[in-house]
Order: sequence, then structure tokens, then C-alpha cells
Amino acid sequence: MESGEIRGSRKKSRRLCCIVAVLAVVLLLIIAIALGVSLSRRGNEFKNTFMQRCEKFEGYNCTEIWDAFQKAYVDRDQCDVPPEAYDSLIEAAPLETSCNRMMFWSKTKDVAQDLAAKGDCFLTVERTLLGSVLDGLTWCGKRGSDETLTTGCPEWNECVKNPVRSFWNRVSAAFGDAACGDVTAMLNASIPTPFDPKSIFASIEVKRFKSSKVKKLDIVLVTEMNSVTNCTNKSLQDLQNMLDKGIIYSCLEVQKSQIQKCSSDPNKSCGSCW
Ligand SMILES: *[C@@H]1O[C@H](CO)[C@@H](O)[C@H](O)[C@H]1NC(C)=O
Ligand SMILES: *[C@@H]1O[C@H](CO)[C@@H](O)[C@H](O)[C@H]1NC(C)=O
Ligand SMILES: *[C@@H]1O[C@H](CO)[C@@H](O)[C@H](O)[C@H]1NC(C)=O
Ligand SMILES: *[C@@H]1O[C@H](CO)[C@@H](O)[C@H](O)[C@H]1NC(C)=O
Ligand SMILES: *[C@@H]1O[C@H](CO)[C@@H](O)[C@H](O)[C@H]1NC(C)=O
Repeated sequence: MESGEIRGSRKKSRRLCCIVAVLAVVLLLIIAIALGVSLSRRGNEFKNTFMQRCEKFEGYNCTEIWDAFQKAYVDRDQCDVPPEAYDSLIEAAPLETSCNRMMFWSKTKDVAQDLAAKGDCFLTVERTLLGSVLDGLTWCGKRGSDETLTTGCPEWNECVKNPVRSFWNRVSAAFGDAACGDVTAMLNASIPTPFDPKSIFASIEVKRFKSSKVKKLDIVLVTEMNSVTNCTNKSLQDLQNMLDKGIIYSCLEVQKSQIQKCSSDPNKSCGSCW
């Protein structure tokens, strides 16, 4: 009797075990499906943002641009996307050229963007189609999948050939190639080396300025109360020496507050800020 009861309860507990196991599997499946749906929804959100921003520009086929964009990183190792992977994207949406209005920046993003956002005086790479579509976004793919991921992607410095960093390097090269006429670059006087050899401006953009197209480079060195350097800094001499012969160089120290005043004054005409 006793052993029968024990056997019976063992059988019962085995059955209970089975039910719990099945429930657990079902639960896991539900979580997996929900996670998959929310991940792909996040992927869709990314695509929606891309398309919405793209469609603000007239005369482009955004579906085609999206396809070219995806080809660069989808189904690839997250640290093995070189800048050249975006060549066909640049081909699908060539960078707008605008002589005398192009503005480069290094460590002065906010001030430069605010000024460029006002009127039509300056064009930064973030205001070209590709730059504006992808500004502030993070994306990557993974091997064996056609998805676009927006989380778990490598950080900027995690590896050199990551999808976001390679995009900005490639689009910056195209922006540098497009430079013409009088070109402006905003640099930061509050850091010891305003022309930092490691910056995108120094390592990619400046090298692409050709004297056949670029007449002059105006450096606007943005100063503040805590500025540590000025136009005489050695790094700026290096910049001057690095320029393609024939490009005129100038450097001007301008207070941040003065530039901000220009950004907020709708009547200020182009070029009258400094
Ligand atoms: C845009 O490009 C896609 C893909 O290449 C093509 O199917 C579509 O017809 C194009 N749309 C327009 C309006 O040209
Ligand atoms: C210059 O760089 C410093 C330090 O990174 C930063 O705090 C400051 O906002 C920058 N200035 C401008 C004009 O962007
Ligand atoms: C620029 O900086 C150098 C070195 O910090 C300093 O000696 C010089 O007086 C400054 N020049 C001007 C015009 O502020
Ligand atoms: C000026 O440039 C040199 C070399 O590019 C750098 O090492 C130096 O620290 C810079 N800044 C100042 C404040 O001297
Ligand atoms: C800008 O110009 C308009 C019309 O000329 C004028 O009414 C307005 O006060 C000006 N605004 C500023 C900030 O100067």
C-alpha cells in the first residue's frame, strides 16, 4: 500500500513535471515571438524614419536609396563593413554640391548645425540628403539575416569598420570631394588641438579639397571664455601646409556668442556674421 501510494504520487509528480515543462516551452515561445515582433517593429521604425526624412528631398527615389543603403551592411559582420561598402549608396544619392556654402566642422557640431539650420547660408553634411537621413541614427546587420538592427550595434570606437562609422567616413569623403569655391570650416578654440589629425575633417575631408575647385578655405575658430588656443596654434599651421597648393587659407577667431546671435537673427544675411 505504502509503496503503491509513493509510486502513485511519483507518477503524479512526473505528470506535473511534464505539464510544467510544456507550459515553460509555450511561455518561451510566446516571449520569443513577442521579442521577434518587437525587434522587427523596431527595424520598421528605423526604415520609417529613413523614408520620412528622405522624402523631404524632392526628385529622389527613396526606395532605391534604401535598397542601396541596406546592401552596405545587411548580412555582414558588424565590424567588417568598410567605407567602400557605401559606394553604391553614394551613387544612388550623390551629394548636393553648393559652391561657397559648404561648411565643415570639427568639435563644433551644435554651433555649426544651428547656423546651417538658419536660412540658406551654409550647407553641412548633416543637411545633405544622406547626412540628414542618417544623422543621429544607429544601425547594423548580422550574418545570416536580412534584418536591420538598431540595438547591440558596435560603438563608434569599438571597431574601425563598423557600419555607422564607415558611413560617416564615406559620406564625409564625398562631401570633401564636392567642395568648391569658398569653403568654411568651424573649429574649436577650447581644445588644445583644434585641427586634430585624428578628426574626420583632418584625416578625410581636407585631403580631398582640390585647388582646381576650391578657391579658399576660411577657418572660423570658435572662441569662448575658456578658450585655450588661437589662430597661431601649430596644428593650424599644419593644416595650412597640408592644403593643396593654390588654395588660399584664412583663419578668424570668432566668439561663440556672436555666431549664436547670427543663428537667431533671421535678418542677418549670409557671410555677415564674421
Ligand atoms: C523607385 O525604385 C524602385 C526600385 O528600383 C522601382 O521599383 C520604382 O518603380 C521606382 N519608383 C519611381 C517612382 O521611379
Ligand atoms: C568645444 O569643445 C568643448 C570641449 O569638448 C565643448 O565643451 C564646447 O562646447 C565646444 N565648443 C563649441 C563651440 O562647440
Ligand atoms: C595666441 O596664443 C599664443 C600662445 O598661446 C599667445 O602667445 C598669443 O599671444 C596669442 N595671440 C593672440 C593674438 O591672442
Ligand atoms: C597647438 O598645436 C600643437 C601641435 O599641433 C599642440 O601640440 C598644442 O598643444 C596646441 N595647443 C596649444 C594651446 O599650444
Ligand atoms: C527683421 O526684418 C523685419 C522686416 O524688415 C523687421 O520687421 C524685424 O524687426 C527684423 N527682425 C530683427 C530681429 O531684426
